[in-house]
Amino acid sequence: MTARDPNRLRSRAWFDNPDDPGMTALYIERYLNYGLTREELQSGKPIIGIAQTGSDLSPCNRHHIELAKRVREGIREAGGICFEFPVHPIQETGKRPTASLDRNLAYLGLVELLYGYPIDGVVLTIGCDKTTPACLMAAATVNIPAIALSVGPMLNGWHRGERTGSGTIVWKAREMLAAGEIDYAGFMDLVASSAPSVGYCNTMGTATTMNSLAEALGMQLPGGAAIPATYRERAQIAYQTGLRIVDMVWEDLKPSDVMTREAFENAIVVNSAIGGSTNAPIHLNAVARHLGVPLDNDDWQRLGQDVPLIVNMQPAGEYLGEDYHHAGGVPAVIGELMKAERLPHPQALTVNGKSLGDNCRTAENLDTRVIRPVSDPLVDKAGFLNLKGNLFDSAIMKTSVISKEFRDRYLSNPDDPDAFEGRAIVFEGPEDYHHRIDDPELEIDENCLLFIRGTGPIGYPGGAEVVNMQPPAALIKRGIHAMPCIGDGRQSGTSGSASILNASPEAAAGGGLALLKTGDRVRIDLRACTANILISDEELEQRRAELAAAGGFAIPDHQTPWQEIQRGIIDQFDKGMVLKPAVAYRDIAAS
Ligand code: FES
Ligand code: MG
Repeated sequence: MTARDPNRLRSRAWFDNPDDPGMTALYIERYLNYGLTREELQSGKPIIGIAQTGSDLSPCNRHHIELAKRVREGIREAGGICFEFPVHPIQETGKRPTASLDRNLAYLGLVELLYGYPIDGVVLTIGCDKTTPACLMAAATVNIPAIALSVGPMLNGWHRGERTGSGTIVWKAREMLAAGEIDYAGFMDLVASSAPSVGYCNTMGTATTMNSLAEALGMQLPGGAAIPATYRERAQIAYQTGLRIVDMVWEDLKPSDVMTREAFENAIVVNSAIGGSTNAPIHLNAVARHLGVPLDNDDWQRLGQDVPLIVNMQPAGEYLGEDYHHAGGVPAVIGELMKAERLPHPQALTVNGKSLGDNCRTAENLDTRVIRPVSDPLVDKAGFLNLKGNLFDSAIMKTSVISKEFRDRYLSNPDDPDAFEGRAIVFEGPEDYHHRIDDPELEIDENCLLFIRGTGPIGYPGGAEVVNMQPPAALIKRGIHAMPCIGDGRQSGTSGSASILNASPEAAAGGGLALLKTGDRVRIDLRACTANILISDEELEQRRAELAAAGGFAIPDHQTPWQEIQRGIIDQFDKGMVLKPAVAYRDIAAS
């Protein structure tokens, strides 16, 4: 540990600047007015921020309001002073038109707070989908000592003796409602059963994914991701997180020391092993860009594709968050990967000052039904494919959720076992899809591919989670529950659909999807990782010229000032959907 020299603290420039007593007095007096003393603020103790993402607007993270009390006690006990402040709330299931719009807004706000106030280190209260990347991205840009604290998943949902997973059960319940198996009240009860307590989604959706990856990146204390929100261990690790951040300030252990290229490579492997969300590449690529670490979707395929799925959680498997924790959580997953020598960089540093390997090497897998050994996985090659072609430069496919039904129908040609071809049905966004999916004139059958466009970061501001589309009701009644879905939007991490999504560039940014017409033949080859409209280059160029002459791909009006501002400066999904000008700002606390 380096010497505890208070003169190194950046908060000294506000609260104890011998060269400028006038400004020091101004900075300090207002923080006394609720009871802090001048002696405390000038005692040379680090000022630790708690970046509070919980509020009544964001129920997934609301329990952080309680947990912050234990964080404070840890900070005080370790010799720090705590300033808790709000982060722009992001509730995945509450924000219109989409919570994804707010990730970069929360990022921008948090960067300003961490840079502009006397904060020496920060506890990032992560949880609901976008809160985790927003916090990590801001910590990356500012680069002051930072540690993440997950709010933890909800308790398991139960309905009539069966586990009901948040987010995931909605898809099944909608199908049951559509098929007339349940009524409206039954539908509501079934969906609500999946959310029995405070915390974030108890499935392996984007929240559990991103919280697990924050731990795999080294940004949380070991075991911090999986502890359910209401368990005593959750409040205990909140306290330990408060203790630890104070030492991290004295050690000057910064996000750039932890979130290295090696850490991201570890996280990609862990993402495959847990069956992580297709939102993970967007968010991790974004965090990496703000750190200046090179990372792209080719890395995700190269490092992650061959890794087996070993966590048996919904939507790919059976279990939920409590089971994941009881089995040992992220350390047990990494322990299994290490036994099989599949963790690429065990030496990567974590926030507790030890390496990821040292933290996880002896972690016990306490329930092999939930966390399988690598030798007995749920799915063998469970990572993402990165598809390319004349439709887009990059689109992600999560192969681990491809159902047997889907494989049998679309991938069963013995001459060509990895490819499928079909007639394109093109929808202009989710409203158009809902409007026309049951239109008999489209003649949708099981040889069609459903496309949705205008749903990327620009087309549907922030990008919509809409690519996983249900087949028409007539096909569902015939037992066809999944069709190939392709689009420039995202899909919920809680969906089990084998979609091809996050297509970049999106139609609204000049991507080939804009040129597709209903009736075109499209060929997807999963071995070659290609996706192409089967028309000539000349025809494509002619369509491109026609689209340009017609004024380009139409996007809906901006509804808020932020939608307009963000659309002007946002990058594509494969580039992390970051605000392009923000990437140039690195390590700004040092400036
Ligand atoms: Fe918040 Fe799923 S909706 S974590
Ligand atoms: Mg989501």
